[in-house]
Amino acid sequence: MAEREQDFAQLSAEILDLKKKHNAIILSHLYQRPEVQDVADYIGDSLGLSQEAAKTGAEVIVFCGVHFMAETAAILSPGKTVLLPEVNAGCPMADMVTAEALRAKKREYPDAVVVCYVNSSADVKAESDICCTSANAVKIVRSVPVDKPVLFVPDRNLGNYVGVKSGRQIIYWEGYCNTHDKLTVDDILQAKESHPGATVMVHPECRPEVVALADQIFSTSGMIKFARGNEAAEYIIGTEMGILHQLYKECPGKKFYIASNKLICPNMKATTLQKVKWALEEMQPRVMVPEAIREKALGAVERMITVK
Ligand code: 13P
Ligand code: SF4
Repeated sequence: MAEREQDFAQLSAEILDLKKKHNAIILSHLYQRPEVQDVADYIGDSLGLSQEAAKTGAEVIVFCGVHFMAETAAILSPGKTVLLPEVNAGCPMADMVTAEALRAKKREYPDAVVVCYVNSSADVKAESDICCTSANAVKIVRSVPVDKPVLFVPDRNLGNYVGVKSGRQIIYWEGYCNTHDKLTVDDILQAKESHPGATVMVHPECRPEVVALADQIFSTSGMIKFARGNEAAEYIIGTEMGILHQLYKECPGKKFYIASNKLICPNMKATTLQKVKWALEEMQPRVMVPEAIREKALGAVERMITVK
């Protein structure tokens, strides 16, 4: 076994012991480092992770992802200890909207229903009517009464995508993911030239002109489910490259090509096995949401979960 793999094996064994000792569960987003995904009890997209956080019987949730995801777990599970192994793992897009700026926009559009992408702070969720993830955004926007405009925050690209799919009037926010927004039409055209015949799957956080070139548009878990059940043997992937690990694990024999080497989120890569171990040893860094904010934010998250 290579030295690095040995370190990973040793750290993973220690993490497993600590997990049992503290009655903890490890949740990992699909963009995490492969070795972090491999130590997790559940690996998924934002929707799946929030559903797992809501139903777990564990006392401690170790969230291998970014801050808004751990915060969502804390909103859903107030009695539990939620740990974010790398305290500085944030989401730059989530930081592009503040509660104060959203309150000002709501005054401009008093009739609008506020739909907030889960990639937002608890403060912003507390100011919103309903939350959504990339997996259910179209369904959530369609659930808004037809005579109401939708104020969609903070991702303009996802807002554009749901506007086109739902035919609803959307008031956009000028936020974006600076990983997905880097993917260009040229990147996709080049990837298609190198791999003719491969199915192109992109995340709806990509720019509209990139989404227009894709064969399929999915959340991260949606991509895995599709590739598993589809006959095509080759895929061009337009999302953060951490997803390749589960795609290869779950789809043996198939080939996946990342659409661009720019598709890397530094915040998602900040969590390491060593930090997961420290978090379980120290029960730190802990993510907490003040109760008054939590209660209001919970309303938006629960309304999302109940939309059928
Ligand atoms: P998913 O909900 O598709 O996992 O996306 C989360 C995210 O942060 C995408 O950049
Ligand atoms: Fe945020 Fe983009 Fe990173 Fe997802 S990939 S966590 S949206 S910066």
